[in-house]
Formats: sequence, structure tokens, C-alpha cells
Amino acid sequence: MKRVLVATGGGDCPGLNAVIRAVVKRAAQEKDWEVIGSIQSFDGILKEPTEIKILDDAAVKGIHYQGGTIIGTTTKGGPFAWPVKNSDGTWGSADRSDEMIRKLQYLGVDAVISIGGDGSQKISQQLFEKGLNIIGVPKTIDNDLMATDFTFGYQTAVQVCTEAVDKLKTTAASHNRIFILEAMGRDAGWIALSAAIAGGAEACLIPEIPYDIQKVKEKLDTRFLKGKGFGIIVIAEGAMPIGGEALAEESVEVGNPNLKLSGAADRLLYELKEAGVEADIRTTVLGHLQRGGIPTAYDRVLATQFGVKAFEMVLEKKFGHMVAYHHPEVVAVPLLDAIGKQNLVNPDSNLVKTAKGVGICFGD
Ligand code: F6P
Repeated sequence: MKRVLVATGGGDCPGLNAVIRAVVKRAAQEKDWEVIGSIQSFDGILKEPTEIKILDDAAVKGIHYQGGTIIGTTTKGGPFAWPVKNSDGTWGSADRSDEMIRKLQYLGVDAVISIGGDGSQKISQQLFEKGLNIIGVPKTIDNDLMATDFTFGYQTAVQVCTEAVDKLKTTAASHNRIFILEAMGRDAGWIALSAAIAGGAEACLIPEIPYDIQKVKEKLDTRFLKGKGFGIIVIAEGAMPIGGEALAEESVEVGNPNLKLSGAADRLLYELKEAGVEADIRTTVLGHLQRGGIPTAYDRVLATQFGVKAFEMVLEKKFGHMVAYHHPEVVAVPLLDAIGKQNLVNPDSNLVKTAKGVGICFGD
């Protein structure tokens, strides 16, 4: 019997279980393959005793629409930076990759499928360079991975964020309020931009286009002049005003905590007030609601395509490669093409032109 080990690493993402299920279902069509899962990413292999789970038909029954991951995940450490406590009580890290590869051999693992984002795929590449038979599957709600058109989970996050815009609209209109809705996405504005377009927000601020607070104010003023006292501004968590980084540092120096508030929404609220916007403004931070729960049909399909392809790449021995969606095909790309650089929103892209076309994105 041959064994393929599946691990899910980094932040969870709707669609992970659909990938796992697809790997198991496709592997079951080959007589001589068994699938096992490492609990909490590669931690399961490194722990004593080892924590693995047999992934057979019964284990994956009906999980395609469940959020999260049935084998758990972690955002800490990994085989190259395993957290260790130093003698003085501080934390350091140790490289346990050789030990992990030995343990995988001992467990009879012939190939590994690592489902994860940029950080996980960097680890995949390092393990591949050490001789491990490994395939990557791209995962992130942020859609910021290179070499694939889309990642699963992104569409679900956009849907959650869009529904939030829809809901906030009715309460905003009832109270004549401005709502600032903060979307996830780390350094990328994909979720915020798509949800703002889909939800018909009044403004959208993303990290790729530093914003001018005066232009945001002008947009609100124009609305107020038309007698509309409410509006929704979608802001990506990584969005910054023009010169924002410097401003934030300066604010620490002068001891003004408001400029260095923890979230983009709070900072924007402060800036709008400073700019003289008198409206009643409220903030909503969507946070992990965008990551939990049921994946959309689109994400389930994409995740299932990725799972089937990943196992087929194992059969073809396409190690050192990652599954990728290149519309309309699902293909194998070198892991090296996916890591080290982020897929950010291009300010010249059609999506941004569209947002500008409907008057919700401002820039040069
Ligand atoms: O990368 C996915 C993501 O949800 C980002 O959008 C967000 O910035 C980050 O993870 C949050 O991470 P954590 O769950 O560790 O707080």
C-alpha cells in the first residue's frame, strides 16, 4: 500500500475540507493508495506521539460543505522554525525538518499534499529541496497567491462581506449613518474591492491605492448635498492614507494613539472626523466571519478540482509543483512561481477601472 499524507497549514479557509475529500475520493479509485492526515499541519508528525488521522471514505463523508479543516491547522512554527523555549525563558526556534522527513519515511509516506498559503508553500519548496515528494495546493481567502487566477475561500469571503454591505445599507439608511466596514485581506484589497462593487458601496479603500481623505470626504459631501445622509465605505484592513506609514510612525513619536489605531476602520473614522465630516459614523469589523462557515458553491467546485488534481499530480510524480487555476484549466505550476511575491490588485486592472467607473474608487 502506498501512502499520501495531507496537511492543512496557515489560517483556515472555507473549502479546505472539500479539497481533503476530493483527494480521498480520487485516491480511492486507485487500488493501492491510502490517505492520512497530519493533525494541525506538520505539527502532528513532529509531536510525540505522532498525531495522524486515517482519511478514508467514512472520515470525509459529507465534509465538502463544512468550513474549517477536519485535520486542524496552525499558524505557528512549522518544521523549519519549531518553537523552543530557551533556558532564559525566551522563545527561539529549531529546524526539525530532517527529523520530520525521517518520521514521514518511518510512517511509509510516499508523497505529501500540503494545502496552504504563501508561508506553507515556502515550506513546501524547502522540503522539496530536501528531497521530499511534495505537492502544494493554494489556499487563502486573501487571493494574494501568485501563479493561480484564484484561490478557494476568496469567493466565500467576498460573499460574506457583500452580505454585510447589504445588511449595513438598511440600518445605515434608517439612521442616516455612515458605516465603515473593514474587510480582511492582509496587504491585498481583493475582498474589499469585490464586495464593495457587489454590494454597491459608496467608497472602497484598498492597500494598493493609498487614499486621500479629502476625496473620501468629497464623495460623502456630494451624497449629503443630494439629500442622502447615509453610506457604506468598505476599507481593506491593509489600506493606508497617502503617506500613511510615515504618519503612523510620527503619531507614535508625538504620542497620538489615534493615528496608530489597531484597525483600518477606526483610523478612517478618526480621519473623517478630523476632516470635518459631521455625520454619525459607525464601524463594523467583519474579522474571522469571513473565514468561518460554509464555502460557496464556487469555492467547493474549485477546492474539489484542486483536490483531484493534487492527487493526480502525485500519480504523475509532479513533485515540487503546486496546483493552480488558469482559467478554464487546473494546471501544475512550479512552487517557485507561487512564492516570494504577492498577487496584489493591479491599480490598472479592469476591476479597479470598474470600481472607478461606478465612482467608488478614487486614485490618479
Ligand atoms: O490570510 C488570511 C487572513 O484571514 C488575513 O486576511 C488576516 O489578515 C489574517 O489571516 C488573520 O490572521 P489570524 O487568524 O492569525 O488573526
